[in-house]
Amino acid sequence: MLLRTLPVLLLVPSTRASPRARNASDVCAQIADQISSTSGVFYPLSVQYAQDIKHWADSSTQQSACSVEPSTPEDLSTVVKGGGHTTNVGFSSTTGVQIAMSRFDKVTLSADKSTVDVGAGLIWDDVYSALDGSGVNVVGGRVPGVGVAGFTLGGGYSWKTSQYGLTIDNIAAYELVLPNGTITTVTATDEDLWFALRGIVTKFTLVTHLQTDVWGGLVTITASQFDKLNKAVADFSANSTDKKAAILPTYNSIVTQPGMSLIVFYDGPTPPDGLFDELLAVPHFTNDAKTRSFADLVGSIPSNNPLEGHRAAFTSVSVLQYTPAILQLVTNMTIEWGARLALTDASPFISFDIEPFDPSLFSYGAPSAYPPDRSRGLMPTNLYFSWQSDKSDDFIIGVMKNLADDIRAAAVAESQDVEDAFIYGNYAPSDTPLVDVYGSNVDRLRQIRATVDPGDVMGLAGGFRF
Ligand SMILES: Cc1cc2nc3c(=O)[nH]c(=O)nc-3n(C[C@H](O)[C@H](O)[C@H](O)COP(=O)(O)OP(=O)(O)OC[C@H]3O[C@@H](n4cnc5c(N)ncnc54)[C@H](O)[C@@H]3O)c2cc1C
Ligand SMILES: *[C@@H]1O[C@H](CO)[C@@H](O)[C@H](O)[C@H]1NC(C)=O
Ligand SMILES: *[C@@H]1O[C@H](CO)[C@@H](O)[C@H](O)[C@H]1NC(C)=O
Ligand SMILES: *[C@@H]1O[C@H](CO)[C@@H](O)[C@H](O)[C@H]1NC(C)=O
Ligand SMILES: *[C@@H]1O[C@H](CO)[C@@H](O)[C@H](O)[C@H]1NC(C)=O
Repeated sequence: MLLRTLPVLLLVPSTRASPRARNASDVCAQIADQISSTSGVFYPLSVQYAQDIKHWADSSTQQSACSVEPSTPEDLSTVVKGGGHTTNVGFSSTTGVQIAMSRFDKVTLSADKSTVDVGAGLIWDDVYSALDGSGVNVVGGRVPGVGVAGFTLGGGYSWKTSQYGLTIDNIAAYELVLPNGTITTVTATDEDLWFALRGIVTKFTLVTHLQTDVWGGLVTITASQFDKLNKAVADFSANSTDKKAAILPTYNSIVTQPGMSLIVFYDGPTPPDGLFDELLAVPHFTNDAKTRSFADLVGSIPSNNPLEGHRAAFTSVSVLQYTPAILQLVTNMTIEWGARLALTDASPFISFDIEPFDPSLFSYGAPSAYPPDRSRGLMPTNLYFSWQSDKSDDFIIGVMKNLADDIRAAAVAESQDVEDAFIYGNYAPSDTPLVDVYGSNVDRLRQIRATVDPGDVMGLAGGFRF
């Protein structure tokens, strides 16, 4: 993931070759000539350039020819039209021109507070602090530093998802620069664009929900308590019917030391008696769950890559329910692979995010590219590993995929029908087949791409391609 920037573009001489074959430096200069003075183009060695290409995981950063910070949809449109053809690498990084969305940074609440306009260059932290004290809030990211745009376009699993669905189910409109440079506002009446979202979003109009103080925080627990924890997590997942309640238990191992980070959340100042008792009765190392503002809760959760400067990857597997057997398997994997990876890499970090939601979580929105099937609830488990050496990349990413397969197999062995369940694109590795994320929607998405984006401009922007 990368904070605040979007990918993109460009250029290597095009097959529709202009007489003047273009390279990325030429395009940078051309863009600088054409955009307004409130936007900027930056080159290597400048501070802005370094910020624009930086990613949360170093392994996602690439050196671009220049970075552009458009400040208006019109200037962004100019940049998009400046784009050509590419041999593209990376989901939101490029060796061409990096477009940084950081100047799309406004949060504007409507007069009646029913919706809020959010610039596509923001991270959720900015949105929550702008709304803090307003009495309303949105369905957004769970931890600090995550970008609004990529999170939302992929789906968006929030603390409030059991109550209101995914972030994508809580959108009233998008402002979009289409692949041909046209600036448009998309609402549910624009069926294909609404479904597929092909273009660069400059602004999201999000539906708001009333917000009081919340209760929650981070509880850390040592590996000696894994047995009790597994039972408590399985019980909570199976029994909790209160949609205001959410937990995010992460089994992790930092340089061979296993443990759990458990985030507990209740969307109200005080949780009902008993709801979190079994979880909180497990002896813990630290516990800062308390009544606080939503912004304070999210801001309090550690979300830096724990081993600064390391490489990182996500992999995902969907299950219908977190049973004791699945949690026991995850416990074993955490302990075993935390130790085994240390034999290949100097300092591995491994983690398994267990994400129980109410099974009704997909019932809040109209059909959308993701999730491809809203008829039953799937829990989007995330494997997140981090390590030091790029020489370990292939091996560790291969291990992650095997472990995800083993978790799926354990669910299938318990009669969960998840052999072919879709997985969450925002947690999926880049070589994931489209059909694994978008299911039977792939054909429709390809047709929409052909109509809206015949030159495949968005193919220059990274992300999954159609
Ligand atoms: C610490 C951490 C916590 C996370 N927590 C959650 C969570 O709680 N729930 C959840 O659902 N996911 C979570 N994620 C996953 C997250 O949704 C993805 O990493 C997502 O891609 C982040 O979006 P971004 O805008 O920050 O990333 P970016 O890398 O900026 O963008 C991701 C993709 O979106 C595209 N994109 C970006 N901006 C635009 C735009 N303006 N218009 C069109 N396309 C654009 C990019 O081309 C790229 O392909 C988490 C990730 C991390 C690293
Ligand atoms: C790109 O073009 C510029 C100016 O036209 C030239 O100086 C530079 O060497 C070119 N770079 C490449 C990689 O072709
Ligand atoms: C949850 O369900 C389990 C059975 O799956 C049961 O043993 C346990 O007592 C229940 N817990 C609560 C808090 O209701
Ligand atoms: C987990 O490991 C323990 C101890 O090695 C073993 O007895 C148990 O069968 C394993 N469970 C699973 C689900 O892998
Ligand atoms: C740009 O694309 C949109 C969507 O396909 C289309 O409606 C519009 O006419 C196009 N505009 C131009 C100038 O080509």
